[in-house]
Amino acid sequence: MCGIVGYTGTKPAVPILVSGLKRLEYRGYDSAGLAVETDGGILVEKEKGKVSELVNLLNGHDENAPIHASTTGIAHTRWATHGTPTQENAHPHASKKIALVHNGIIENYKSLKTKLIGEGYIFLSQTDTEVLAHLVDSFYDGDLLQAVTTALKNVEGTYGIACMAQDEPGVLIVARRGSPIVLGVGENETIVASDASAIIKHTRQAIYLDDNDIAKICGGEIDIRTLDSGTVSREASEIDWSPDAAEKGGYEHYMLKEIYEQPDAIRNTIRGRMNTELGTAMLGGLNLSPREVVDIQRLVIVGCGTSLNAGIVGEFATEDFAGLAAEVEQAAEFRYRNPIINSRDLVLAISQSGETADTLAAVREATQKGALVAGLVNVVGSTIARETGRGVYLHAGPEISVASTKAFTCQVATLLMVALKFARSRRMSVEQGRQFVKEIDSLPDLVNQVLAKDKEIAAVAERYVQYEKMFFIGRGYLYPVAKEGALKLKEISYIHAEAYHAAELKHGPIALLEKAMPVVALALEGPGKEKTIGNIKECSARDARVLGIITEGDEEAKSEVDDYIEIPKCRLHAAVVPATVALQLFAYHVARLRGCPIDQPRNLAKSVTVE
Ligand code: G6P
Repeated sequence: MCGIVGYTGTKPAVPILVSGLKRLEYRGYDSAGLAVETDGGILVEKEKGKVSELVNLLNGHDENAPIHASTTGIAHTRWATHGTPTQENAHPHASKKIALVHNGIIENYKSLKTKLIGEGYIFLSQTDTEVLAHLVDSFYDGDLLQAVTTALKNVEGTYGIACMAQDEPGVLIVARRGSPIVLGVGENETIVASDASAIIKHTRQAIYLDDNDIAKICGGEIDIRTLDSGTVSREASEIDWSPDAAEKGGYEHYMLKEIYEQPDAIRNTIRGRMNTELGTAMLGGLNLSPREVVDIQRLVIVGCGTSLNAGIVGEFATEDFAGLAAEVEQAAEFRYRNPIINSRDLVLAISQSGETADTLAAVREATQKGALVAGLVNVVGSTIARETGRGVYLHAGPEISVASTKAFTCQVATLLMVALKFARSRRMSVEQGRQFVKEIDSLPDLVNQVLAKDKEIAAVAERYVQYEKMFFIGRGYLYPVAKEGALKLKEISYIHAEAYHAAELKHGPIALLEKAMPVVALALEGPGKEKTIGNIKECSARDARVLGIITEGDEEAKSEVDDYIEIPKCRLHAAVVPATVALQLFAYHVARLRGCPIDQPRNLAKSVTVE
């Protein structure tokens, strides 16, 4: 949700800022801009649209132009919150000698704006960020750190910011509350970014700012304080993935690359975490003694989007195998509806990015209410990972595509391990535990078998390209798969796809069935299959074309559907993973054939740091 980059050092700033923006484009691509220090003052360039539009604009400067010599600057790629995506609303925003980029929302911007207009400031945009730029200027008397500190004390809301002043060459002021800021520590240089993917090319040493931190940076010198106190120390940590991990590696889209990375990603997720002998999972990061594991009386899973869908699988598996009460809740709802939580509840926050505002708010609410709170997060050092202090990292590697794929399957693998851990501390025997371990171990292979059908799936996709609406149905473990399949399709192909529990179809949605409304039916062998076959018949009777996701060799299911994708035979809690991969590929090919911008779907952002 908006990407920020900053550079101060000895090298030309513009190429570093632009390559950082390209890395962060998944966070928003409504407009892009940068501001650099030149002898003639701060130069701002910004443009509506993607970073490539900004690059076109920058190419208009000849190679000896001052912009290319600058060694200090800030840049931004925007996901619009206040004000439409126009050039005027693009960041950076300037006020006299100050320029600023911002990720987040200034909630009291209206009252601040009225006050600043009264002081004579003229506003050129509809953004809340411009308010912040003028506010900083209103406190500026030659000391930018002081001015930003005072301004931020007057601000309600969330921010990650980077700011510079014409009269303080080489200096950047950065601060965070609610929106992430990482400092890449180099030799005589610092790269500021919203996440590590924008700095990894330059350095692996990263300092993650905490909420209410503010830092003054000049070249390699970094002075971090909090808004209310003096200098604080924040340790640098090593980024443990390679720059290559964030490249497309020959694939046409990040999404396809990440779909194909799933066997390895799942292997990394489960590596070292299973004990075959004891038939259990070892999740040291949860930091729960065997006694505490037994004492937990309820698992509450919170998340948003894809992470929420994975959470449903966790809920079912925990109740199914561990006999432990579990529920899953949309994170924003959890926060605002005043849930009943106590100290024997384990609240598990699932988030790929570890930065989703609603999920973070749920973490804080659960902590406040005295629950045990753990994170199931992919991005190491992210806010949710740090605030929960306990949890399980996915180790899925960087996920760049806005549509989440490998994070989901790694989340499911982890949730199955969580269920196994609770199950073994309760009613599951060692034999059953060993069987479960084998099933988790087999997930990468199951995914490989589906990836081998990529061409077949692409051929099936061709038959669904022309539709504008689609239903997905499933029951039990296959219901969250239907939800995730529909989410993928709508995100990247813009087809109106809705998922229903197969049994719910007849309670309303069936009224919409007709020739123009195909149905993707999850009808794998296992409990509930026969009932789903009954639902498929209901769909066919209403002229709907049916694509069945069926078990390999299931002739009965084949005879009931118009098209099918076969999934290797396994129990349903494991089948979630290969079945979802099949639907990821289906969505990918439909979107590709429709010519959609797969890695950057309209209106979406990967890391949603606003509520
Ligand atoms: C956004 C993304 C989704 C993602 C959701 C939760 O809406 O577009 O792909 O599933 O946020 O993100 P998280 O990082 O918390 O898993």
